[in-house]
Amino acid sequence: MLPIILDMDPGIDDAAAIAVAVNHPKLDVKLITTVAGNVTVDKTTKNTLKLLDFFDKDIPVAMGAKAPLKKKFVDASAIHGSSGMPGYDFPEPQRKPLSLSAVEAMHQVICESKEKITLIATGSYTNIAQLMEKYPKDLDQVNNLILMGGSISGGNCSSVAEFNVFTDPDAAKIVFDFPIEKTMIGLDVTLKALITPQTLDKIKKMGKSGDMLYSIILAYGDVHVGGKPMHDVNTILYALNPELITTKKLNIEVATKGPAIGATVADIQNRWHKAGTYNANVGIDINAELFNEWFIDQVSKMP
Ligand code: BDR
Ligand code: CA
Repeated sequence: MLPIILDMDPGIDDAAAIAVAVNHPKLDVKLITTVAGNVTVDKTTKNTLKLLDFFDKDIPVAMGAKAPLKKKFVDASAIHGSSGMPGYDFPEPQRKPLSLSAVEAMHQVICESKEKITLIATGSYTNIAQLMEKYPKDLDQVNNLILMGGSISGGNCSSVAEFNVFTDPDAAKIVFDFPIEKTMIGLDVTLKALITPQTLDKIKKMGKSGDMLYSIILAYGDVHVGGKPMHDVNTILYALNPELITTKKLNIEVATKGPAIGATVADIQNRWHKAGTYNANVGIDINAELFNEWFIDQVSKMP
């Protein structure tokens, strides 16, 4: 089993990623930490607890940053609804978060683990940046950092910036600059892997989990020609089957001010960095049909 920590802002696509991860026989989710992003951190934490109640999984949850490091917090409730998880009537959560903060809980789990951890971040990277600043040695125990976010081909928040990086560009800069093996699964991948209406029709008939996922995805405001992007789910696919996403080793710089704030600029021509160096494996392609088949297969195995 692959030991993982999820750092997220559920969020409809984060919720779908949680659904896949906590039910997958090859993944051992050690901890879920939450961050402000799609909605406030109180709501992203509540949504995480609701999902763990739904799937009856005793996975510790720790609440993280209420706001970005420097920038003013602006949510994405226009896309994810005011609760962050609309479309399905979840009861109030029975589970409670830990009293530890996200950073302290990650530190504890990483220190206690005998195996190296895969750290997956699908919200803004505020908690991860704080972990790197406070406990840099912990990152020696992380063998891969998988980030949903960024883009080298245009943004979804501005013409150049993707939401997770745009929300906290200062944290993103710390994370991309940190010397650790990392993979950026950004819009270059996730906007290719749209969940089609046919896939939604299939999962709708797949028991209580399929019905729940169908209902929340239906309420998701991120709509493109051909379907809806389940951005964060791609990170779970990559953790399990990295060969299904084509990556390129590139140097990524994060813009932290000015009109390009939140952009992840790739030094494709090696103008600023030596050829052969890189700070990220950048996802550039995925087979959308395979992604849909894989997602349907995951949902079909859920309770
Ligand atoms: C990212 O932004 C959020 O709204 C989604 O949950 C995803 O993590 C896509 O840009
Ligand atoms: Ca997210």
